[in-house]
Amino acid sequence: MMKTTSTNEVVLGVTGSIAAYKACEIASLLVKQGVRVTPVLTRSARELVAPASFEAITGNRAITEMFEPLLNPEIEHIAVATRARLFLIAPATANVLAKAAHGIADDWLSTTLLATRAPILFAPAMNTNMYEHPATQANMAILRERGCRFVGPDVGRMACGTEGIGRMIKPETVVDTALTLLDPRCDLDGRHVLITSGGTHEPIDPVRYIGNRSSGKMGRALAREALSRKARVTVVTGPHDASLPHGVDVHVVETAAQMAEIAARLAPEADAIIGAAAVSDFRPQDSLTHKHKRGAGALTLTLVENPDIIATIGMHKRPGQVVVAFAAETDDLIENAKVKLDTKHADLVVANQVGTPDSGFGSETLTGCILDRNDGADPFEGLSKADLAERLIDRITALLGTFVPSA
Ligand code: C5P
Repeated sequence: MMKTTSTNEVVLGVTGSIAAYKACEIASLLVKQGVRVTPVLTRSARELVAPASFEAITGNRAITEMFEPLLNPEIEHIAVATRARLFLIAPATANVLAKAAHGIADDWLSTTLLATRAPILFAPAMNTNMYEHPATQANMAILRERGCRFVGPDVGRMACGTEGIGRMIKPETVVDTALTLLDPRCDLDGRHVLITSGGTHEPIDPVRYIGNRSSGKMGRALAREALSRKARVTVVTGPHDASLPHGVDVHVVETAAQMAEIAARLAPEADAIIGAAAVSDFRPQDSLTHKHKRGAGALTLTLVENPDIIATIGMHKRPGQVVVAFAAETDDLIENAKVKLDTKHADLVVANQVGTPDSGFGSETLTGCILDRNDGADPFEGLSKADLAERLIDRITALLGTFVPSA
């Protein structure tokens, strides 16, 4: 387990899953790591575990009632929300996920979750059907979008006697993840990361364009991760739905040609360049200056190839620069992606299965493999875009760290 010497304050929200008793072990592990733990038990958690157990383990008052804090400024919800370095909700029921996703504030824990700006980590624990229910999945997607983190759940035997996904992941793993969030890495401090993101629009006429299904979510997850590790982050993005985090230098473009021009200008001074954009490979040779009306006869488009932005950057990369390409493929994933290591002059290629509901454009999770130039293949399955971003930035950081400039 990781070591921390800080006296960080964690709010440990315990909700009414049968796994609530395991939260005592989580509290105990955190305390052993020098973390100050403020336990908060919802009404249903109190049916399963006694607040006194948490008080004995943490040495702190367990918060249980919404209105009691008025008499006790130490546990007044805004004060705790402001003071906490991390909110850890373990176990997290479907109910607390739903409330957090929709801003419902009807008890101390849910109210304080709205008031805090600290990172929030959920360790879900619930019956498999409840976990797999579209409502729970949609709530988790909303929370992920907002930057909340999840650890688990695990697959195994449930309290209700069935086997499946939904068990809370083991306390050591929950605590390791919490400590990582408390002690953020600054391993990209002083580095500049350039990311291309979103899809491009190639105009046919003033109202129509050729586009694609890119949502910009992968680029946003990468920007968030690089920023959290103290990099300077620049994103060149096509028109997209995903909002980019505050602190990122954003250049919004429409076409591949515009993206190519800005990315090529910025690339020489970047340490790492990540091509997460779904760049249109073709554009209409001549875009019409007036709308082509129905009844005006057939419209024939001649498409010409767009510049390959990441391949051009890869070709001109200087020693020590890291270039990463994405390969979205429906067939022969690994074979096609391997070719891109060479054609893009890339150090890493993220091979990404598209065309299935749980992987690819617009989906919340991805399945595929990170390939490197040493024939290394690091597979991932059903990984959230945030987790893939973390894994990829780890790899980039390692490559940047191994570069030894020649004398
Ligand atoms: O060749 P393909 O489009 O499959 O390659 C995908 C990778 O190349 C992605 O990293 C994408 O951002 C980048 N790309 C690019 N410019 C293009 C086409 C793709 O930078 N015109």
